[in-house]
Amino acid sequence: MTERYGAAGLAAAQPGPSRGAAALPRHVAIIMDGNGRWAEARGLPRLEGHRRGVEALRATLRAARDIGIEIVTVYSFSSENWSRPATEVSGLMGLLKRFIRNDLAELHEAGVRVRIAGDRDSLSRDIRSLLVEAEALTAGNRGQTLIVAFNYGSRQEIAEAARTLAMEVAAGTRDPASITPEAISARLSTAGIPDPDLVIRTSGEMRLSNFLLWQSAYAELVFQPVLWPDYGREALLEALAEYARRERRFGGVAAVVAGA
Ligand code: FPP
Repeated sequence: MTERYGAAGLAAAQPGPSRGAAALPRHVAIIMDGNGRWAEARGLPRLEGHRRGVEALRATLRAARDIGIEIVTVYSFSSENWSRPATEVSGLMGLLKRFIRNDLAELHEAGVRVRIAGDRDSLSRDIRSLLVEAEALTAGNRGQTLIVAFNYGSRQEIAEAARTLAMEVAAGTRDPASITPEAISARLSTAGIPDPDLVIRTSGEMRLSNFLLWQSAYAELVFQPVLWPDYGREALLEALAEYARRERRFGGVAAVVAGA
């Protein structure tokens, strides 16, 4: 396990002797919060905070690849973010476009498979085609999986899965008894992806804000005070070190989960 942390001597993330969880999470999901406060504290427009947020995202993704995190999901735009001022919304749309145009080649080169979670119907045609291009280009990659949650809302996603299943029941093609947690998971945008082991939120806020509510049932939650534009390798290592100290029981008892 140690070598999965890369060559940088990342002792901070090493497991402690009493830990019950695997030392390194397979799937890390991140709520990138605090861009606005970062900018406001410097007398800058909020959009500048988001721009710096993209740089932090780039640095964090590189570190996560280096460390050996298999799956990273980032919350880039929530279904509720449409209520922000129009200039901020269009700025965030522009940043997504630039992120895909500028970073797709590097991600592809690094073997990253890109997936998008969220409702695409209300996005512009050019964004929709960029999202299709990013997924198609990287579909065969077997390195890290990056899930960009954009125009994403967890309750909406669960409601959509419920609607699909209800329609199958109404059409007589599904027995209601077959509506299991697995059947619902298979109809979410994360179908086929293991649930997040670790959910990180930056900026000191301590809530999930409609992010991966179903998938995070047993995730470890780590809240860090750092504002997202200041995030990077060091802060990620701190979150991983905190994760490694946690004992995950999944509703059972420690000895059974640990296989002891
Ligand atoms: C929360 O900060 C952050 C967002 C709503 C957007 C996150 C977006 C990025 C990190 C950059 C865009 C990345 C891509 C891939 C498009 P906030 O604005 O709520 O901060 P505040 O709580 O301090 O106001």
